[in-house]
Amino acid sequence: MPTEAGLIKGLEGVVAATTRLCHLDGVQGRLAYQGHDIDDLARRASFEEVVWLLWHGELPRAAALEGFRKELAAARPPEPLVLKALKLLPREMHPMRVLQTTIALLGALDSDAEDNSAEANRRKAVRLVAQMATITAAFHRVRQGKRPAPPRPELGHAANFLYMVAGKKPKAVQVRAFDAALVLYAEHEMNASTFTTRVIASTLSDMHSAVAGGLGALKGPLHGGAGEAVMRTLQEIGSADQAEAFTKKALAEKRRLMGFGHRVYKAGDPRARILRELAEKACRQSGEGRWFDIAVRLHEAVNREKGLIPNVDFYSAPLFYALGIPVDLFVPVIAVSRIAGWTAHVLEQHADNRLIRPRAEYVGPAHRPFRPLAERD
Ligand code: SDX
Repeated sequence: MPTEAGLIKGLEGVVAATTRLCHLDGVQGRLAYQGHDIDDLARRASFEEVVWLLWHGELPRAAALEGFRKELAAARPPEPLVLKALKLLPREMHPMRVLQTTIALLGALDSDAEDNSAEANRRKAVRLVAQMATITAAFHRVRQGKRPAPPRPELGHAANFLYMVAGKKPKAVQVRAFDAALVLYAEHEMNASTFTTRVIASTLSDMHSAVAGGLGALKGPLHGGAGEAVMRTLQEIGSADQAEAFTKKALAEKRRLMGFGHRVYKAGDPRARILRELAEKACRQSGEGRWFDIAVRLHEAVNREKGLIPNVDFYSAPLFYALGIPVDLFVPVIAVSRIAGWTAHVLEQHADNRLIRPRAEYVGPAHRPFRPLAERD
């Protein structure tokens, strides 16, 4: 309910922009990018096709896709100065802070840095999609005292990222599952990080600044940070037969159960349904089945006890774990995907811009006289 001044806390239900990118039906639990149902895209399209769809409004034809893949692959090698910075940063620094820092640096180095034309922003968007993956993987290698694995131009975006993290070529089934996860995370309407990027873009600031802001919003545990917390919860529970007791205790202690609940979806998050299937397959194939089993038992118990639904970050946790992704890279991996949506929203905002500048309801003291320092007691 709005207050007398019209305040709606957390802007719940407030419509802040028009968009062609993503249709989110929270009542039916449906999601589509540019009219294409998320089930179709996750099962049948690659991440690169989805990025193209978001930026251009249509799925690419074969020749366009081939050209785009080459363009992305050419933008993968790390910037020498960014690589230097990665080596200087503390190894224990959270990779999300590393991304925020280095994406800002990358913005300063970009040849189109202060050019906000649609063409320059399209070029920057390509570089950002490629570099988000490169920086995430390279920092992981550097912090282990290893040399970053050089990108492989013949690999697609999903395969190349897994290769650059692990230093070895992933299996085809792993690539397919990871590619689908990238598709599922690519865009999600006016979520907190996307709203942040649009607010920054609306000041006519540059794309890298908007993305660095989005990264800061994504990092929070109520947003993308939840995935990392989900895996830590599964590890804390330890075995499937402990899930029920854990849930009862956690709810009695009024703990927030990470990976559950959503501001918009009330009947279920359609991405969680697909991720559940992917997680089961990946966990069983990699011999990590117990994480999936714990997740299912936790899901059932939380749903029964509190009626909460798992969101996108719940089943992606055991999936990413089974794919060999380190737990503190779960949030950066979301950024590796969501950069598609963020850049598309910046393009959309700039195409029809108006400064986003809402109001606040003042609740401080009434007007009071100024007392000089010596007279204050
Ligand atoms: C993402 O918005 C997007 O699109 C985001 C996202 C995307 O793709 O960009 O979908 C990705 O960020 C997923 C969300 C990841 N976060 C978490 O999993 C963190 C845990 N979940 C929550 O804290 C919560 O559900 C939110 C933040 C996701 C949504 O919060 P709201 O809409 O502000 O709801 P709320 O916190 O006001 O909760 C309403 C009620 C409360 O109970 P009452 O006070 O009314 O009795 O539901 C309870 C809450 O306590 N509740 C939970 C809970 N989620 C809601 N109780 C325990 N555990 C939870 N997870």
